[in-house]
Amino acid sequence: MMCAGIHAQSLQSPDGKFEMNFQLKQGVPYYSLKYKGAVVVEDSKLGLRLFKDVSVPFAAEIARPGNGENDLNSGFTKADEKRDAKNETWQPVLGEKKNYINHYNELAVTLHQASTDRNIIVKFRLFNDGLGFRYEFPQQKNLNYFVIREEDSEIDFPADMKAWWIVADYDSQEYQPQTTKVSEIPGRWDQAFDKHSSQTLIKNAVQSPLLLKKEGKEPLYINVAEAAVLNYPASHLEVDAQNFRFKTHLTPDKQGAKGYIQTSSVSPWRTIIVSPKAEEVLDSKMLFNLNEPTKYTDTSYIHPTKYMGVWWEMIIGKSKWAYSTASNVHIGETDFTKLTPNGNHAANNTKVKEYIDFAAENGFDGLLVEGWNIGWEDWIGHHKEFVFDFITPYPDFDIKMLNEYAHSKGIKLIMHHETSASATNYERWADEAFQLMNKYGYDAVKTGYVGDMIPRGEHHYSQWSINHYYRIAEKANKYKIMVNSHESVRPGGESRTYPNWVSTEAARGTEHEVFKGNNPDHQTILPFTRWIGGSMDYTPGIFQTKMDYYFPGDKRFVQTTLAKQLALYVVMYMPLQMAADLPENYRKHMDAFQFIKDVAADWDDTKILSAEPGDYIITARKAKGTENWFVGGITDENKRDYTVNFSFLDKGQKYEATIYEDGKDADYISNAQSYHICHKTVTNKSRISFKMARSGGFAISIKPKN
Ligand code: NOJ
Ligand code: CA
Repeated sequence: MMCAGIHAQSLQSPDGKFEMNFQLKQGVPYYSLKYKGAVVVEDSKLGLRLFKDVSVPFAAEIARPGNGENDLNSGFTKADEKRDAKNETWQPVLGEKKNYINHYNELAVTLHQASTDRNIIVKFRLFNDGLGFRYEFPQQKNLNYFVIREEDSEIDFPADMKAWWIVADYDSQEYQPQTTKVSEIPGRWDQAFDKHSSQTLIKNAVQSPLLLKKEGKEPLYINVAEAAVLNYPASHLEVDAQNFRFKTHLTPDKQGAKGYIQTSSVSPWRTIIVSPKAEEVLDSKMLFNLNEPTKYTDTSYIHPTKYMGVWWEMIIGKSKWAYSTASNVHIGETDFTKLTPNGNHAANNTKVKEYIDFAAENGFDGLLVEGWNIGWEDWIGHHKEFVFDFITPYPDFDIKMLNEYAHSKGIKLIMHHETSASATNYERWADEAFQLMNKYGYDAVKTGYVGDMIPRGEHHYSQWSINHYYRIAEKANKYKIMVNSHESVRPGGESRTYPNWVSTEAARGTEHEVFKGNNPDHQTILPFTRWIGGSMDYTPGIFQTKMDYYFPGDKRFVQTTLAKQLALYVVMYMPLQMAADLPENYRKHMDAFQFIKDVAADWDDTKILSAEPGDYIITARKAKGTENWFVGGITDENKRDYTVNFSFLDKGQKYEATIYEDGKDADYISNAQSYHICHKTVTNKSRISFKMARSGGFAISIKPKN
């Protein structure tokens, strides 16, 4: 189609349900998206603004509006158009299913900017579950190096919608999800955050993945996110609440610049998952599909791991990471054997052995030990660069003896590298730290970035920091080490390319239950938002939910029932999965603990049986390489009934189902530990009804009968 000043290209999804239209309006690129003929995204602008060259004082430049002479957002003509399509099946190293299907039609439009004689490409991939697009910057005479002032990709929705969002921040994602209309976001924004150890909020902006719902007779669920965020900052979404329009807002560096690019290069993918069914949003693998296959030549060391930890007791305040009473220590100088022990250091030989014993008796693979290394005395809040060396244990942690003891019982210790966000220091020590892990047989590390980033002034989600995270992933791969990273950037499917970057935290995990609290609907939202691009270290499994058990009068409590904690092992995909509570609490409920012992962490198949964000999720998964299934159901602050239809099981086969459900009198506030366990024979014709308590749930483990 051609009319005055308008050139339009259209692209259809393989199943024909989506149509994307691209056009230049007076030289400005726009795209729009339809689902079954109805507009989902109205004409939305594309483009980037650049600094005028690569060596200006960026901070001063930002204050000036810029004359636009170097921008990549207008004055374009269409130079070329290429089409492509793919329908492939690939196997994730660890995943929710054995096979992920990558099926799309592609349109790549080359845009020529005559005034600067530069070309860029806008590439669209239309899948059966929505749209991804990105910018590509081919190397050329007039485009070799540039610095981004801002990316201005817009997503303009035609109507107000329900939104599940957290406040945007360059340094933290650990916020309580909010549920409002898009139009209500600015009104709620100021009350939507608490204080975090590193925090740079962006007024009236929200984070992605963002979930939206068009309500009414023909609902649509829309997830807005980004994929393959590499050598580029993570982005946020500025909200135009009157026009229901979102715009990209990149994380700046200290200077205010938002990405230093050398061509050839590509931007991350902007993604819009759309489905009339909430279940299909949870099922989408679009973000992974938009990442490159891994180049790792050996992934055999990457394996599902269930672990316990010398951890929760520090989080709740029962014991300490630090060994001594000192408050100012110098790594490499302070003699820790001469310091006065505080008497409450958790990572000591006796206690670690007890945890190893319990983890081994119950068939776990690993034990995380935090606070094993020197430096915790002044690790937080001092902007201290040389905060840890990652190789020197405290005097009461015998690293050789404990690893040998663990290995003799079939347990691997899991390393902990809290960097205190001193990324420069971590890069300096990483080789030695990983060599120490190789020496003692650790194959997984939990890293952490609490506090303000060093290099000082960098943000957790700026380009430099993101490059740091994946440099660490690549280095860990060299040493055959799996990584589970806290306070780093949220995932956008990058684990396809970096399969040892197994998991991240990057959201409000279980620990916040005892900080300022998680709402009972929290776990019914996270899989729709945070989880869309990769697994999360949520650390479920808390049986003793009331803190006054430890500290009489303490009002803090984990806002779920015990049965819901079990269900989280199925609902929340995590191949490096923790059982977070203390052995003493599991010992009191060995019958319920059996579910955590049995449940798998890596899967051949996943069926989202039913879900509504903020209300409930019911998930069934088939364990990797077996015929065993596990089902988990969770509800929000409301009681809820649900009938599981076992039609996902094989026809003609009988199975033994062990059911763990809320007790009749269970309630997350008054009676969280009331549960009921029973056994039933089921077939693919069976149906079983459950009554979930307030913030309750159920879990089922299903094994074929001979
Ligand atoms: C914050 C992490 O989320 C938590 O799991 C860890 O224990 C502390 N940092 C200390 O590293
Ligand atoms: Ca955290």
